[in-house]
Amino acid sequence: MTDVLPPRDTSGPAALPADSPAEESRYPFGIPYGWFCVAWSHELAVGEVVPRFYFGRHLVLWRDDEGQAHLQDAFCPHLGAHLAYGGQVRGCALQCPFHGWEFDGDGVNTRIPYSERTNAKAKIRSYPVQEVAGALVYAWYHPHDEPPLFELDIPEEFTSEDFSDWTFRHFSVPAACQELAENSVDGPHFRYVHNTEIVPEIVSYETEGTTASMRSIQKFPTPRGVVDGKINVDNQGPGFGVTRFSGIVDTCLLGSAVPVDANHCEVRFSFKTRSLGDAQSTSSVSEAFVQEVCNQFRDDWPIWINKAHLTRPALADTDPPFMKFRKWYSQFYADGVAPADGVVYAPAPPPAGQQPAKWEREHLTASFKHRTSED
Ligand code: FES
Ligand SMILES: [Fe+2]
Repeated sequence: MTDVLPPRDTSGPAALPADSPAEESRYPFGIPYGWFCVAWSHELAVGEVVPRFYFGRHLVLWRDDEGQAHLQDAFCPHLGAHLAYGGQVRGCALQCPFHGWEFDGDGVNTRIPYSERTNAKAKIRSYPVQEVAGALVYAWYHPHDEPPLFELDIPEEFTSEDFSDWTFRHFSVPAACQELAENSVDGPHFRYVHNTEIVPEIVSYETEGTTASMRSIQKFPTPRGVVDGKINVDNQGPGFGVTRFSGIVDTCLLGSAVPVDANHCEVRFSFKTRSLGDAQSTSSVSEAFVQEVCNQFRDDWPIWINKAHLTRPALADTDPPFMKFRKWYSQFYADGVAPADGVVYAPAPPPAGQQPAKWEREHLTASFKHRTSED
């Protein structure tokens, strides 16, 4: 018999100090480490300062006058002001709105306006940042502040002239990054959740160090009939997944889930489509394809938010390599994963004495009808 664990209290992240990441999780794992997309480059102009809440921490994201983006813990070490609310960029430093202290991109205090000296102890935690293909701001997060343990290999499609400009989509999901990522190996759910013609065939799933690669054969429905295609996914850590679709039109999708905390994530989809010759047809085909992928993402929603995480799932002999995926993903939890002892990690119960909200039931019912009406 399995136990259903009550979820732990996760009400705390907003109240935690910046050096105490929220590790409470409703899953048997916390926040993974890796490179994560914290903004699209166009969202952060030179001189701009914005608040972010990722990795269970209050953060400040800013771009200095030389164009370099920085991600740092949000609270000024002087007296705790949130640097994103009123903070100003001064050259290559960020000035606190409270008493005017300045900090550089490494978090070093470079100026105290009413003192001749600086304070070497007043250091702000800074996260390594790189700008991917001039379009995405990626930051390295490790719960123990380790420097990057791997580098990103940037696909050539991102800068190729044979591909369209980027198309961006953004989602928030109240579920852990790993739960979403498990979808990438889950061929059978396409038939039932996304109503595809067949269960896609996973041709291979290989993991090596911090990378994982899945190759599959898929059939895409189109107004002109069903088209054979392929879906290949290449992951570099938990926050950089490149999906290449071929069959209808070659599309390259960079999916980045960034942990908001252990139980929530934000997903940024960044698409590029191989040019079909003229801009008009490329854009209309690509638009339709992007819409289809986003519709599929929304189909997954009610599953993700309502599902339990089973540490010992009951699998079919023909199921895809879920446990191989989980073993690969587990390396990114610096503090490990709870043992696979058959515990069921369930979502939070409804408020005391209440049944689940009406909208949740409607979402589930809609999803169920969607799949059963086609069987
Ligand atoms: S709190 Fe930032 S300078 Fe005082
Ligand atoms: Fe899905």
